[in-house]
Amino acid sequence: MPILRSAFIALSKNSTLRSFCENTRFGRRMSSRFVAGMEIDDALRVAEALNHQGMLVTLDSLGESVSTEAEAQKAAAIYHELLDWIDARKLKANISVKLTQMGLELSPQLAESIAESLAERAQAKGNFVRIDMEDSSLTQVTLEIVRRVNARPELRGSVGIVIQSYLYRSQDDIEQLVAEGIRVRLCKGAYKEHAGVAFPGKADVDKNYIRLSQILLESPLYHGLATHDEAMIAAAKTFAKEHGIEPGRFEFQMLYGVRRDLQRRLVQEGYNVRVYVPFGTEWYPYFMRRLAERPANVLFLAKNFFRA
Ligand code: FDA
Repeated sequence: MPILRSAFIALSKNSTLRSFCENTRFGRRMSSRFVAGMEIDDALRVAEALNHQGMLVTLDSLGESVSTEAEAQKAAAIYHELLDWIDARKLKANISVKLTQMGLELSPQLAESIAESLAERAQAKGNFVRIDMEDSSLTQVTLEIVRRVNARPELRGSVGIVIQSYLYRSQDDIEQLVAEGIRVRLCKGAYKEHAGVAFPGKADVDKNYIRLSQILLESPLYHGLATHDEAMIAAAKTFAKEHGIEPGRFEFQMLYGVRRDLQRRLVQEGYNVRVYVPFGTEWYPYFMRRLAERPANVLFLAKNFFRA
């Protein structure tokens, strides 16, 4: 399985395959299981439907590293528009943003000023910006930017971050973030990392996930536990029950199209569930990372594709 995972992560960077997939009807149809559609309207429609099923949403306008400031500003404009639409349509949704899409690799100052302006817009609309976490070369700078934005008194609480349980440093980061009042989404981590920075074995990543989720559950802030792993979810539920932590004090988060049965079950049980809804034309790397997490999805998608 690790070989297949690496193969899909390598394919996620293949530009020929990417351009073929993104530009053909075949590719777009394949992607529809995990991606809401190509346009803002598609994402809003899906968000509305999920809200009707009792689920919260976070919207992700797909796209990763940009190479010019104009591209970063264009990507930011989509998020500003999303915040306005969420407000206008009274959706229970926030936004998830990648700093590389906001120009982080061109200029950290540019990414920071965009993150700040999105947090200002979110604050004005009573909403919230989640900054996604990317590969470990960007962990420190991402943390620093989120901390500085959150340190502005008028923006306090309007921005949050993601922490990955596969990184050795994560417990220290979480303790510091909680002390600073910054809301965390905890996930296992989706990038290929080396043993110098990340646990190579799944058992250690899982053990760390449980340890970190308990720190978050015990903190007074509202955090998100992002996972489809029933063992992680069961551990969080048990810990919460044993410590008198009400279900409304935290949320589970899952990806659009992944374990929909589990998403519905948790809502029925009275837990808050937020679905991460990606949309946009640049869906290919996101889609390949989902296949890397579970190569069996290739068979699943193929079966559904030919059945449809
Ligand atoms: P794990 O991979 O151990 O899988 C456990 C079980 O879940 C599997 O056996 C299978 O049943 C099911 N499952 C998992 N993935 C599946 C899939 N793609 N299709 C079908 N079933 C699947 N990462 C990151 O590095 N930075 C980030 O900012 C984010 N943000 C984020 C937001 C949200 C809401 C989620 C849910 C996830 C992320 N991630 C992320 C991705 C995360 O790091 C991780 O790669 C995936 O969630 C898969 O890990 P699991 O915890 O689900 O468990």
